[in-house]
Amino acid sequence: MSPLKNKKAIITGGGRGLGKATALAFAKEGIAVAITGRNEKILKETVSELQAFGVLAIYAVFDVGNYEEVQKSVKTIVETFGSIDILVNNAGIAAVGSFNEMEVSQWTDIIQTNVMGMYYVTKEVLPYLLHQNSGDIINVSSTAGLTGNANVSAYSASKFAVIGMSESLMKEVRKNNIRVNTLTPSTIESDMTIDLGFAKKDSQDSVLQPEDFAELIVAGLKLPRRAMLKSAALWSTNP
Ligand SMILES: NC(=O)c1ccc[n+]([C@@H]2O[C@H](COP(=O)([O-])OP(=O)(O)OC[C@H]3O[C@@H](n4cnc5c(N)ncnc54)[C@H](OP(=O)(O)O)[C@@H]3O)[C@@H](O)[C@H]2O)c1
Repeated sequence: MSPLKNKKAIITGGGRGLGKATALAFAKEGIAVAITGRNEKILKETVSELQAFGVLAIYAVFDVGNYEEVQKSVKTIVETFGSIDILVNNAGIAAVGSFNEMEVSQWTDIIQTNVMGMYYVTKEVLPYLLHQNSGDIINVSSTAGLTGNANVSAYSASKFAVIGMSESLMKEVRKNNIRVNTLTPSTIESDMTIDLGFAKKDSQDSVLQPEDFAELIVAGLKLPRRAMLKSAALWSTNP
């Protein structure tokens, strides 16, 4: 039996892409999953797929960048589950554009979603993990959080911020038996990378797939509690 069976998880942005693959991998392990996002239709469809594994699967519609919505929704999810063990902070947006061409509003949206959204959700989930003296938080950064590149200033700034926030939290709460893991994956085929022109559809032979990312998260969670995956960079073997 999986050591993760009957754990309870929240995955932000769990309706599609990397978050959906993670939700499916969790359901296969017997983890109850709450997926979140803004698109209810997609969330409903994914919840049906998750329920086919015989686990409790629910969804919540909210914008991670809206603190009031986050507060209400996290409370409802934890009340429904009774407790919470795992948070995957995956929701994120990206855009490509030169420093001066990108609108101030778009730059702000990226920071609000990728940084403030992660902060808001974590702030609401953390008290439950501290109370039970156990938990796992997986924060999704990117290779763009390790190195700046032309035309992705907002995205890169947001993902650098994620690493700083995540590592700082990790050092605060490891004494509370809470493992905080910061992921910096390279390009993975998803709506985001196809829309930006970084990946092509159906490029399974060369480009990382969402299920590769999900497998890494599950492997990290399966480590004995004394061991913690602090950070991990997932790259494709031969791009
Ligand atoms: N794909 C890659 O190559 C790659 C590499 C490194 C890191 N990442 C990171 O991995 C994460 C997932 O990326 P992906 O490739 O799976 O992207 P994606 O296919 O575009 O999915 C993004 C997810 O985030 C959710 N989301 C976006 N803005 C939101 C908001 N304001 N409130 C709530 N949910 C929101 C979306 O749900 P709704 O549309 O329903 O709101 C969707 O489920 C992101 O943080 C991304 O930066 C991706």
